[in-house]
Order: sequence, then structure tokens, then C-alpha cells
Amino acid sequence: MQDVVGWLKENGNLKIIDEPLDVELEMPHVAYIEVKKDDSRPLLFTKPVYKAKGIEYDMPVLMNIFANKDITQKIFGKHPDSVAQGIDELMKLKPPKTFKAKLAMLPKLFSLRKVFPKRSKAKGLCQEVIIPKEQVDLDKLPILKTWSQDGGRFITMGQVYTKSLDGNMQNLGMYRLQQYGKNRLGMHWQIHKDASHFFDQYQRAGKKMPVSVAIGGDPLYIWCGQAPMPYGMFELLLYGFVRGENARIVKSITNDIYIPSDVDVVIEGFVDPSQTEIEGPFGDHTGYYTLQEPFPVMEVETITMRKKPVFQATVVGKPPLEDKYMGWATERIFLPMLKPMAPDLIDYNMPENGVFHNLILAKMQVHYPGHAKQFMHAFWGVGQMSFVKHAIFVGENAPNLEDYEALSEYILNRVSKEMILITEGIVDHLDHSSDKQFVGGKLGIDATGDEVGFGVARQLGDLELLEKMQNINENIISLKQYMKHTKNPICVISVNKKRSQKYLISQLHTLSSHIKILVIVDHENNDLNNPYMLIWRVVNNIDAQRDIVLEPFIAIDATNKNIKDGFEREWPDDTLCDRDTLEKLRAKGVVEWDDEFASKWGLF
Ligand SMILES: Cc1cc2nc3c(=O)[nH]c(=O)nc-3n(C[C@H](O)[C@H](O)[C@H](O)COP(=O)(O)O)c2cc1C
Repeated sequence: MQDVVGWLKENGNLKIIDEPLDVELEMPHVAYIEVKKDDSRPLLFTKPVYKAKGIEYDMPVLMNIFANKDITQKIFGKHPDSVAQGIDELMKLKPPKTFKAKLAMLPKLFSLRKVFPKRSKAKGLCQEVIIPKEQVDLDKLPILKTWSQDGGRFITMGQVYTKSLDGNMQNLGMYRLQQYGKNRLGMHWQIHKDASHFFDQYQRAGKKMPVSVAIGGDPLYIWCGQAPMPYGMFELLLYGFVRGENARIVKSITNDIYIPSDVDVVIEGFVDPSQTEIEGPFGDHTGYYTLQEPFPVMEVETITMRKKPVFQATVVGKPPLEDKYMGWATERIFLPMLKPMAPDLIDYNMPENGVFHNLILAKMQVHYPGHAKQFMHAFWGVGQMSFVKHAIFVGENAPNLEDYEALSEYILNRVSKEMILITEGIVDHLDHSSDKQFVGGKLGIDATGDEVGFGVARQLGDLELLEKMQNINENIISLKQYMKHTKNPICVISVNKKRSQKYLISQLHTLSSHIKILVIVDHENNDLNNPYMLIWRVVNNIDAQRDIVLEPFIAIDATNKNIKDGFEREWPDDTLCDRDTLEKLRAKGVVEWDDEFASKWGLF
């Protein structure tokens, strides 16, 4: 990583922060604010301290490595679209028919040699320093506590290397890891993820599972760790493909897991499948805390490192954050891999405020009735795409998928009750909205067809409509209509919720000539003038089966749910910044923010 730091200084506009800052809240808050800026930069904290324990680290911490699109592209060494093109070509390879064609194919086949990780017998750079088991103390690593309600300190950019019980499959996954005391780490591999499947195998066999967690090295390892590769495919193959160079891997010292030679720190150990520990809470990339839940635990056997290691960390919370840029590369690179199951898919887009699994927009060529619905089922049935809760399909004549204004107009002019599919499927492990964990509602909108015939029968201004609503129900506090020029304007209201909103929706039926789509949010913590955060809230908070009704108009209850809705799980809090910490950091001149910035991104 020292090399990466040098490289980032030259290529990434690295910002160096020499002010001593606490690993608890202070450093993560600085990174959180930075990456939300238009011109966000990677950060190097040279003097991390752990104030609660009086520890000063001589290991710097690098954050926001994927701070923007430009640096992300530079990390890849090429535009993600060009990686996607390479994958597309590979997937379309056909046996050459002529000698000339055979010759032309040789360079491509030759370059594939670079895809496979190369094992080295020598010790790795990451093993220059070896800390024996008796001396292992995780406090000596600058591990961060990001949010006030976090259950402790978490490694947030750990590359988790595992292998299947029979040793035939290797995996690299990016999972957060909670620190328990001096030598234990919580393995937050979620139920649908590859390391969790491996874990099941060890558990059934009653054997301890070897795990090595690497931190640092080439930032591309991290991107590969979060890439949704199919089960059984080692992510370092993707590394080799993108880099055009084999990943150089070495054996861990105390187990037989191979890790990249050039990483900065490796934490090796074993997971005893008979033991779990309560993990969390942790402020997650959904912008909500994930609740406490038991997860497997690794007992650390040794920590190895480079002589001058650099630690790596990220912050997750409300968008936009660093995962926006990692997700952008993933979205581009995985397009060709989606096409075999959805051949007429032209493009897709995962808006960052949909936190990837809550909203997908897809453009397709339509060849027969029900084609978009066929794609919805395909998406909901395959790999990590199946976590997506809300999918909107548009036709090939739709505007660019990133032109959200024009695209919203296109979609709203085509939405009708008949073209809405509400069903059930698996949802992301972290989804908090469904009545039961792991299974929940799915919404598919087929907006590939023609514009609908008519819009709102009698359109009213915001104030007039609000007054009419308040005459019906006094718990409605404010109202704003969006996209009034379309066939399906969206009327958003905020409420002081006293009971299930199904009741309110039925009360408002007398206003159906003024409303096409109604969205209800809680008055607390929502700003009706901030559509970016409203979309984030709505797609996070709803379970389509429970919260969308199609009569007397399309109504979406995006309020927080509780027992009055028949919701029996705990509803998590938003991830909010600690105001005191941010004010102190501003006074020190380490971060800049003002009230406008705070309300734009829902900081408090
Ligand atoms: C910043 C960040 C943090 C993540 N944390 C976790 C996590 O704690 N647990 C998890 O299962 N997935 C987490 N993910 C998502 C996984 O990295 C991703 O689903 C990956 O494809 C999993 O790899 P696998 O299919 O090999 O298991 C995270 C992703 C990012 C970008």
C-alpha cells in the first residue's frame, strides 16, 4: 500500500490529514463528508489514535480509495466499459474456421494465461513481519468505529479469503468483520454469500474452517471482493482478467488459504462452526443500522504484515459513498454477464440512492407481450440480482438511463395498474422492510409500452390539495407534487403516523380525481423538497406486497412500520452523524460542511 499511496499522490489527488484523529467516529466522519462532495478525494490519515484506550498508531489509514469515477477508472487502468467489452468478446468466442482466424485468436487465448492466480512458494511481502498467536492484539490495528450506535470496531475493507471443504473452490468476498477483544473477529458473511455456503459445509462436517483476511495491496482486490461473481468462481480470476497480470498468491502461515503476496496485513485463523457471537449493530450501506444477529467467529492464529503497512477502510451509510463508485464499475462490467439470460437487454442502471438492491432501471428491446415480465422473473431468479426489490423496465426508445429527469417523465407517462407486477421473492439479508427476514415483496413495472391515455382528471395546486387532505385527516402535515406535467404525477405527503396508513389511503378515496400516485412518508426525518433522499427512503422502507395498493389510486406507504401495521420485527434507526463530532472536526478545520450540506444528505 505504500506504493498505492505514492500512486494516489500522483494520480488520485490524495488528501493527507496529519491531524491526530480518533478511529472512533472522527476519521469515519471525515471520510463520510469528503466522499459526498462533488470533487471528493481519497484520504490518508497519518496519525490515527484510539482515544478510549490511549493508543497512537504508526500505521496510516487510507480511506475513500474509490473516491470518484476518475480514480476508479484509473485503478482499473481502463474504463469499466472496456473491461465489459473484453468479457463480452470472451463470451462470444467461437471455434475459428480458417487457419487465419486461428492465428488471429492466438493473442486472446495467450492473454488468458494471465487470468489464473500464480502460487509462489516463497514468503510474501505481506509476511515480512509475523506476530505470533500469544502476541496477537487486534487493538494494535487502527480499526474504526463508524457510527455512534455501532456495536464496536469493525474492519470495513477486509478481503476475506476462504475455500470449500473439499478444497476445490476458493473465494474472495468483502465482508465486514467485528472485533471482539484481542483475538476474535465476527465473520459477517450473509446467508446468500459464497463464504456462508462454504461455512455450511464445514459445519456439516464438524470441522474448523480456515479463513485469512487481507487488508490493503492493490485496490483492485477490494473491488473484486465485492464483485457478484457466480458461486465457485474465484474472484482473483477477474483480477487477472482486468489487470492482464496473474495475481501473485502465497500460502498463509498457519492455514492453507492463499492470499495475495502484496497486501499490507493478513489476519489468519480458523472459524469453529459450533460457535457464534452476536454481531452488530452496524450502520450499513442501506443508511440504516443492521440489527444484532449471531454470526460465526474466527479465532486469530497470527497476524502478518509488511514492514510499513498501510491500513485500508471505508464508510458505509446513506448514499452517496465510496460504494457508489465501486458499484458503478460493477454495474458496467457485469452487463455482458446478464445478457445470456436476458438477451434483449440493452442496458441497466442501479441508481446510488436505491442502494443497489432496492432499485434497478433496465432498457430492453421488446419482442412479445410479457417480455418485460419475463425479464423481471429472470432478474429475481439469478445470483445477487435476485436481491433487487424494485425493477422498472423501459423500451429501447427511452432516454438514457442516467438522465433521471427525462427517464422519470418517460416512465410516469407509461405507468398503469395493469403493467405492475407485485410478487414475492428473496430479499437482501440486510433488508429491514419485509415482515420476515430474507423473503419479501417485489415490484416490477413494465413501462416498455405506449403512453397511457389520460392523466389526473382535475389537477390541484399543492396547497389546495393539502387543505382538502387535512380536512379528511389531520395527521397529514405537508404535501408536494412531483412531475405534474406527466400522466402520473407523484403526490408525496408526510404524516404523523398514528395507525396503519391503509386506513388513510381508503379515507382519501374521495380525492381520486386529483391523485394518480400517492406516496406517504413519516414527517420526522423526511424532507419533501429532497427527492434524492425521498427515493432512498421509499425504496428502502417498502415491501411491495404489503405497502402498495392499486385502488383507489396507486398508493405507496413508505412510513416506518410498527406493530400497528402488524410488523413484529424491530425497525432500525437511520445512520445519523454525531453532531458534536462533526462540529469539533469543523472547528479544527479538518472538514467543511454547513446546514445546507447537512440537510441535502440527511446528516442529522
Ligand atoms: C463496502 C462493502 C461492504 C460489504 N459488506 C458486506 C458484509 O458485511 N457482508 C456481506 O455478506 N456482504 C457484504 N458486501 C457485499 C459483498 O462484498 C458482495 O455481495 C460480494 O459479491 C460477496 O462475494 P461472494 O459472492 O463471493 O460471497 C459488502 C460490499 C461492500 C462494497
